[in-house]
Amino acid sequence: MTKRSWKTRILKLRVINCIFFILAVKAVIKLLTTCGIYNYSHLPAEVIETQLYKQISPTFITQKSKPDCKYDGVLKRELSISNWEVPKTFDDFSATGLVNGSFIPDHCTPMFSVAIIVAYRNRQRQLDIFLPYMHNFLRKQNIHYRIYLVEQQDEKIFNKGILYNVGAKVAIRDKFPCLILHDVDLLPLDANNLYVCANEPRHMSASIDKFRFVLPYDYLVGGVLALKSEQYVQVNGLSNRFEGWGGEDDDFSWRLSSHKINVIRYPREMSRYTMLRHPQERKNTRRSTVMKENKQDPSTNVKDGFTSTRYSSMHVKNHRLFTHVGVVV
Ligand SMILES: *[C@@H]1O[C@H](CO)[C@@H](O)[C@H](O)[C@H]1NC(C)=O
Repeated sequence: MTKRSWKTRILKLRVINCIFFILAVKAVIKLLTTCGIYNYSHLPAEVIETQLYKQISPTFITQKSKPDCKYDGVLKRELSISNWEVPKTFDDFSATGLVNGSFIPDHCTPMFSVAIIVAYRNRQRQLDIFLPYMHNFLRKQNIHYRIYLVEQQDEKIFNKGILYNVGAKVAIRDKFPCLILHDVDLLPLDANNLYVCANEPRHMSASIDKFRFVLPYDYLVGGVLALKSEQYVQVNGLSNRFEGWGGEDDDFSWRLSSHKINVIRYPREMSRYTMLRHPQERKNTRRSTVMKENKQDPSTNVKDGFTSTRYSSMHVKNHRLFTHVGVVV
């Protein structure tokens, strides 16, 4: 009897040790992932409104019968929800006001027209959350927007640069003055995060839960980025040379800075996002080589980018919740 309890005591001790060990390892991992910039530099909240790029599609200019929409309610926390729960299902989702992936407020004339461009392939479960969530979020902002889902429809390696370039081409053809390049796995958590362009490009997803709400590095522009269509064209869009996961965003960051275009951010609170879980994509092992080559030759962003994007075919089809741009690379 005593022998047995002695044994169970040792066993218990070991279990406790194991638990401590696992907790310690987890703590170290957490500590490592918090490396990054907690207090990144950002635009003060008070000046955000003065820096906005107020520009609408030319089609609205002739039909200005309603009063101008107001945005201080969005920016001044009146609509803020501190704990924004991401619903698991959207059974009661209503598509009211949505036509061809687009929304126009009906009680006022919007001051902003924004194309949200999502590069996509084979992430149906995320898309089923992304679309209703984003429409619910954006319809409260009094902006004119349209979601373009640019899908790579072939078996070749995923090429986000090409997809963004094609999406930008379609959105600019539709006369959108402002583009937001958006990952399908990121959802904004703060209602004050107004989805419009500023005078300078804005890295919107500076504070993601997956990275413990810390900005991983200063020149990051990946995730969600808003910039004027003319700025996108000015730097000749994204490089088409990055295949697989990673690199094209850092290369784009370099393109912006080599054109002396500064990237701004909003305060951390407003820049919070949640990342939907997904299996890790195959990393591009050549990404640093390609980036080095691009940096060595200053003419690369003239030769490789928006103006030189090649693909086998492209078609545009309107659905209620999004405009589908199918691309075969
Ligand atoms: C929606 O798109 C279809 C073509 O796909 C077009 O015929 C229709 O006019 C569009 N509706 C609006 C309101 O833009």
